[in-house]
Amino acid sequence: MINLNKQPKSDKIFDLSCTRDYEIWRQFKLNALYKNVEALKVEIVDPYSLTPEENTAITQRCAAYGAAIYQLSDVSLQDKTLVHQLGQQLGLLSLDGNLRSDEDNVSSLQVRSQQGNQYIPYTNKPLSWHTDGYYNAADKQIWTIIMHCVSPAAEGGVNSLLDHEILYIYLRDENPLWIEALMHPQAMTIPSNIEDGKEIRAAVAGPVFSVDKISGRLHMRYSARKRNIEWRDDVLTQHAVEKINELLADESITLKYRLNAGEGIICNNVLHNRTGFDDSDTQQRLMYRARYYDQITEMRGIKCFG
Ligand SMILES: [Fe+2]
Repeated sequence: MINLNKQPKSDKIFDLSCTRDYEIWRQFKLNALYKNVEALKVEIVDPYSLTPEENTAITQRCAAYGAAIYQLSDVSLQDKTLVHQLGQQLGLLSLDGNLRSDEDNVSSLQVRSQQGNQYIPYTNKPLSWHTDGYYNAADKQIWTIIMHCVSPAAEGGVNSLLDHEILYIYLRDENPLWIEALMHPQAMTIPSNIEDGKEIRAAVAGPVFSVDKISGRLHMRYSARKRNIEWRDDVLTQHAVEKINELLADESITLKYRLNAGEGIICNNVLHNRTGFDDSDTQQRLMYRARYYDQITEMRGIKCFG
């Protein structure tokens, strides 16, 4: 039985020269490693007024598993404002805006016709493994995502998740030099975004893994897309990326879930993908998605060491 309260905290966990703190954290994460999706679930009675128990259950799951899946007891409570409200109660205030998000910076993900570049989240095509905002500037990294399902597709639209902290552990255990390569500031470059011949975003280079100086937490930028990603021309980087893709293809360590109406995922921007889907005349997929620069607030009862 895992104790979700004992999330270790230290600023040396991701320091490759310090194995003691890493080992303690590693053990916590591997002990908590989800064996099935039920461990992530939290029932919410009123998303506009979380009870302290519901709030703690969500933050604990995000720390241990990288994600929580909430289920509204009352599926009729599905106004779009619930996403903001949920976020605020979890300490999430700084929303990322993007080219396709709505005025309130919460995106309504559904199939729609798009002018200019076609963004796959607004189509029914599969989305390959990624973390959100991998093309964002260093000071605008996405730490947390809330995705609420108003309506699933008639068929398909299944998400897979892998906590990037678990991926980090698998990589570091096999070859710490891969971690060093992935933390290089030029490890991954996203070329500029050109729409109608005009540059709407400059090229962005940055590390895959980085550590937040204030919280000491691990962030990951990643996309499995072959096009539009330039990896640093270095053998260790290439091998590390091959290994990442190998791990992401291992279904024994990833988690699959298809959100039902009234359910949502709150996660630390963990690795995720989505299968393609089909809408019908009577049922169309609609998700509300908010992305935050904030991290889910630290849990009560955190255990410090080091
Ligand atoms: Fe995403």
